[in-house]
Amino acid sequence: MKKHDYEKQVRDLQLALLRMQQSMMKTGERAVVVLEGRDAAGKDGTIKRITEHLTARATRVVALPKPSDVQLGQWYFQRYVDHLPTSGQLVIFNRSWYNRAGVEVVMGFSTEGQQAEFLRDAPDFERMLVESGIRIVKIWLDIDKSEQNERLEARKDDPLKALKISDMDQVAQDRWKAYSKARDTMLERTHTALAPWVCVRADHKKPARLAVIRHLVKEVAPADIGSKIDGPDPDILF
Ligand code: ADP
Ligand code: AMP
Ligand code: MLT
Repeated sequence: MKKHDYEKQVRDLQLALLRMQQSMMKTGERAVVVLEGRDAAGKDGTIKRITEHLTARATRVVALPKPSDVQLGQWYFQRYVDHLPTSGQLVIFNRSWYNRAGVEVVMGFSTEGQQAEFLRDAPDFERMLVESGIRIVKIWLDIDKSEQNERLEARKDDPLKALKISDMDQVAQDRWKAYSKARDTMLERTHTALAPWVCVRADHKKPARLAVIRHLVKEVAPADIGSKIDGPDPDILF
């Protein structure tokens, strides 16, 4: 994709996002984006493009650290509930309650019983949110193994990225298959009519970001705003 073409599309989509936000602030609409994907899938960069021109008052990005001892003693969803949007707000979860179906399964951070309970409860939890008027947009950014390897290796050479390397990243390649299995189970068990997943081919960052923003606007903005932009490329987002 040509740089100029990409930048023009991003700009147009950011304008649509801003219109979407102003409409949400007027009507009190609330929305949650759940952004999931393996290490180095491109979650941070995607979120930056979404939020770049939005107003901070009505936009929040939530990226929770590992749970504290107090949080481990609470209802699993409790620490996420604290961050849900109020009227007019868009909240983007950079990783989410779905940790219990991903990293926690692969790394053994919770018991199999807790993980099974999560897969049963997540659709009910989300149904309650949707019924209360929150729109939920769930996105899985999918990259292949060699692309992840390249991105993780590239981080080591860039001081701005090296600081982001975590213990979890070190095992992302070794546990590739376990993560794939966890992902498939998660998508199968938690894809519901009220809160469906979409998958995004994210080996190429730019088309992936464009597809995510197009999807978000189509799902959340009123028709008069959404109808002015093209939907996501069906080869990229499905
Ligand atoms: P990120 O990829 O979001 O930069 P990490 O790779 O360090 O962060 O960790 C991935 C996810 O695993 C994060 O959401 C983090 O909170 C979670 N995590 C890390 N350690 C634990 C743990 N001991 N128990 C539960 N969750 C954990
Ligand atoms: P792949 O891009 O081949 O790694 O596909 C990702 C996984 O997600 C595959 O197991 C697909 O079957 C699954 N998948 C793709 N789209 C959806 C969807 N909308 N809902 C549930 N599962 C999906
Ligand atoms: C990214 O922004 O590239 C990643 O998705 C963040 C991460 O590695 O956790």
